[in-house]
Amino acid sequence: MKMLFGLMAAASLFALQPAMAASKGEDTYKKACMNCHAQGMAGSPMIGDKAAWKDRIKTGKPALYASALKGKGAMPAKGGQTALADADVKAAVDYMVSKSK
Ligand code: HEC
Repeated sequence: MKMLFGLMAAASLFALQPAMAASKGEDTYKKACMNCHAQGMAGSPMIGDKAAWKDRIKTGKPALYASALKGKGAMPAKGGQTALADADVKAAVDYMVSKSK
């Protein structure tokens, strides 16, 4: 039980570290998103393609998070990796958006 609390404390500390959250986004992107988004596969907006992201970014982060979590068009929910935590998928969206504007 004590160990469980220790783990939970460590996990919440982790969540509070913005720098770590950024690398979490990059990690998740590399694991679950770049297969499509590095090349614009199946009509996905390519990371770093400002024109492809401009109008999507305008719809706002909550809409982008919702698309990433639930899927949109040819994109499956969470890029098909449904075991990912919602927070990790959101971090990956943040990462992709930060590289694409
Ligand atoms: C199987 C290929 C594939 C994978 C894997 C994938 N995507 Fe996508 N993604 C797409 C496609 C295709 C679109 C365009 C959907 C559309 O606009 O119809 C898209 C669109 C998006 C958008 C824009 C949504 C919007 O509302 O305009 C976001 C954000 C996004 N993906 C995030 C992610 C994240 C985060 C991951 C990893 C967890 C990921 N994608 C993995 C194919 C993929």
